[in-house]
Amino acid sequence: MSGRPSKEPGRTPSDICRILVAEHRVTEQVLRALESMAERCQEGHAFDLDDARAFIGFFSAFTDFYHRQKEERFLFPAAVACRPPVDPALIEGLINDHRYGRALFQDMESVIEDAAAGREPAASVFIATAGAYVNLLRTHVDREEAELFPRLERMLTDGMKESILKGFKGLDIRTFTGQSHEHYLELSDALAQRFRVPPVDLSGPFDGGV
Ligand SMILES: [Fe+2]
Ligand SMILES: [Fe+2]
Repeated sequence: MSGRPSKEPGRTPSDICRILVAEHRVTEQVLRALESMAERCQEGHAFDLDDARAFIGFFSAFTDFYHRQKEERFLFPAAVACRPPVDPALIEGLINDHRYGRALFQDMESVIEDAAAGREPAASVFIATAGAYVNLLRTHVDREEAELFPRLERMLTDGMKESILKGFKGLDIRTFTGQSHEHYLELSDALAQRFRVPPVDLSGPFDGGV
């Protein structure tokens, strides 16, 4: 691992932050669709079990398994290993968010059969839990992009960035469900279309916060 500081620190976003920010945008698109589904349920539309399963499938595979592992296995350890290290309390808080997020989508998953069968209060529980999940993830993403990524852009050495990227490339989402990365991008788009939410915008460059 090289001890060289990054070239032009903070000026050119690294592939690491580009990848994670792009995954945030894809996730946010699905969060908007989930919000729309919850609103429809609240308005009295029938609870669609296939839609609910699609959301749970996306969040468990793409958000929790794939994206979370990139952060917890590779990014966060590097954040506390760099000098000066990122505040461990920030990392601890982000890991707690991941844990709480998993508990929330598992709570949603536990009521979808009853909600589809019209057994109350399952639909109400789903709506309330979906709202909590959306809020949690939005705040979490904001914290990562405002407080963590810009610091890492400045503090990680080129060698650390190469090592993190290697870790990212070694993670294969297919080991979780057998479905490809492309499948989850398509699922995100399909849910956005179905629930008529604006498509994800990946065109804006991430400026590393500086
Ligand atoms: Fe995260
Ligand atoms: Fe993230």
